[in-house]
Amino acid sequence: PPKLTSIKSLAELPGLTSIPPIYTFPTNPNDQSFSAAKESIPTIDFSQLTSNNPEERSKVIQELGEACQDWGFFTVINHGVPESMMKAIIEACRGFFELTEEEKQQFEGKHVLDPIRCGTSFNVSVDKVLFWRDFLKVFQHPEFHSPNKPAAFSEIALEFSKRVRQLARIIVRGISESLGLEENYIDKALNLEDGLQVLAANFYPPCPQPELALGLPPHSDHRLLTLLIQNEIRGLQVQHKGKWINVNPIPNSFLANVGDQIEILSNGKYKSVLHRAVVNNKDTRISIAMPHGPALNAVVAPASKLLDHENNPPEYKAMKYKDYLELQQSSKLDGKSCLERLQ
Ligand code: SIN
Ligand code: FE2
Repeated sequence: PPKLTSIKSLAELPGLTSIPPIYTFPTNPNDQSFSAAKESIPTIDFSQLTSNNPEERSKVIQELGEACQDWGFFTVINHGVPESMMKAIIEACRGFFELTEEEKQQFEGKHVLDPIRCGTSFNVSVDKVLFWRDFLKVFQHPEFHSPNKPAAFSEIALEFSKRVRQLARIIVRGISESLGLEENYIDKALNLEDGLQVLAANFYPPCPQPELALGLPPHSDHRLLTLLIQNEIRGLQVQHKGKWINVNPIPNSFLANVGDQIEILSNGKYKSVLHRAVVNNKDTRISIAMPHGPALNAVVAPASKLLDHENNPPEYKAMKYKDYLELQQSSKLDGKSCLERLQ
């Protein structure tokens, strides 16, 4: 079969006014079941998480717990990562997607555990309808990897990932505490010192029929915690109380969300929430998700302190994180279908 090229090169075909049927969803995904409510994703002031003032800290831990329980998503502000660094990594990713098809082909990894992997859609070997999206996934921790092009990528990614991983570990400590567990319970139980960190960049070029296509289908993230940045273009939608909510990109912030492994660990108290990406016909959207997971060999299970056999029996089976990762990445990206297999 001919090599599948990027959605970027399809979108750039001169005079493209309709999309090939393989990108067309049978039911209109860009539906209008948006919440009319003025509700918006809660904000967490990161600086309070590292505060020496015990009152300030306990207040933000409570807010964090409520955000995890009510939304599964929260905006992180006052995080200390320079805005210039956030812009630089977005431009470095744009530079990668703008490489020629030939240059990108050398990074077309085959296996989900290949440390550098680019491609289009989600998993073209199982997707029946393709997604209007190109991606690049690069493992950043425990071992740092980087494509050697564009030239500046490696240096920027190394610095950015290090900063983001520090944020993620502090937020995970807060989440642990908010569950009534020891602050470092998750750290130790899942060996986060060796935790997997991935830089997952998404590129959604303009689509001539945005109402028929999807950038990413509704899915939950399967790791512990994802921290996401994006350019100024809207496209992410989050499910809240059964409705899709448009996420407005907030400059200089991270959007955090709880993944399946926190849902398992919290025995379902905190849910990993469905989200999806829609596309538009004007602007290219770029997002960079940095998912943080357990160490590959860690076994994830509900925290025993949160269980009691009468009132709160375990709702999920224990599973080695590496096995979960392979299951998720080799399946269709489909709601919470992987997590459901553990219930
Ligand atoms: C994702 O869910 O991994 C990315 C969504 C987005 O592009 O904002
Ligand atoms: Fe996601």
